[in-house]
Amino acid sequence: STEELHKRAKRARETLGDRLYILGHHYQKDEVIAYADVKGDSLQLSQIAGRQTADYILFCGVHFMAETADILTEPHQAVILPDMRAGCSMADMANIDQTERAWLELQKLYGDTIVPLTYVNSTAAIKAFVGRNGGATVTSSNAEEMVEWALAQKQRMLFLPDQHLGRNTAVKLGIPLERMAIWDPIRQKLELDCAIEEVQVILWKGHCSVHMNFLPKHIDNLREKEPDRNILVHPECTYEVVSASDFAGSTKYIIDMIEASEPGSKWAIGTEMNLVNRLIKDFPDRDIVSLNPFMCPCLTMNRIDLPHFTWILEELVEGRVLNRIQVDDKTAVEAKMALEKML
Ligand code: 13P
Ligand code: SF4
Repeated sequence: STEELHKRAKRARETLGDRLYILGHHYQKDEVIAYADVKGDSLQLSQIAGRQTADYILFCGVHFMAETADILTEPHQAVILPDMRAGCSMADMANIDQTERAWLELQKLYGDTIVPLTYVNSTAAIKAFVGRNGGATVTSSNAEEMVEWALAQKQRMLFLPDQHLGRNTAVKLGIPLERMAIWDPIRQKLELDCAIEEVQVILWKGHCSVHMNFLPKHIDNLREKEPDRNILVHPECTYEVVSASDFAGSTKYIIDMIEASEPGSKWAIGTEMNLVNRLIKDFPDRDIVSLNPFMCPCLTMNRIDLPHFTWILEELVEGRVLNRIQVDDKTAVEAKMALEKML
């Protein structure tokens, strides 16, 4: 039973004491986040991971986050993901072969006038590619600063793998949509609306399948029925949704906005379901709903559940370190160059 699993998880957690530190992303289920030593968004968690001394770092989040934690921790520390199937469909939309091929084509077109940036929602191999080509990583909470930095280095940038965060950030910085091209990794083709030399931003054709579920029609419906409800979305939503909303920002921004809001204020939030439900529960005096009435879970985040969590802790108690996430040294060194520029 759930009750029995909680008893076992608590017992194992107590036995492991200071040898274990548990990181929990805000999108995690309540039954798991309850055990987190710290909750955070992906940037906060990678910074915190780098400061820990525990032997075992249990990452309740998705694969790319655990890889980042492994890169930023000491070699003797084991970073563990409770379920190896907890990936990120967006990160999977850019593999290293596609990226090397795209870079070769873009070099032919643009020579040395282009710098790569990657959203942290990408594999360690992509971060390493970016690091060895003079670029940096980005998260949703520092995307503007990082895009400004990139465009101060070179005339143009390649932004991986989320076209929507890339587009929304570039628009915020005043770059016209016509100056943005899309790199299609399947067709290996640049899709553009201006002359090739006028392109400033090349967006990798990737997206988050969770945030794509928030649609302009949801905003139109709400505006008609409840014009006083504030609409707050994550920048992984499309440009159409972000531009029609009242506020857009990272996970941390969304939480800070609700925390700072007036009791009685009305909100519709466009982000992952577990976070929206937690905000509804934690702020009962605000009127909060999901922008998509059917709620949008991140299925891979949800793979970290109480049974996997309990199992991995009990294995650790027995001295078995399972599901360790280890990035090879060469990849880690190059990826760290990209991460350190951002951190
Ligand atoms: P944050 O960087 O806001 O934590 O987002 C991570 C993520 O996966 C969003 O979908
Ligand atoms: Fe990846 Fe989207 Fe899930 Fe975030 S919400 S982990 S971007 S699939």
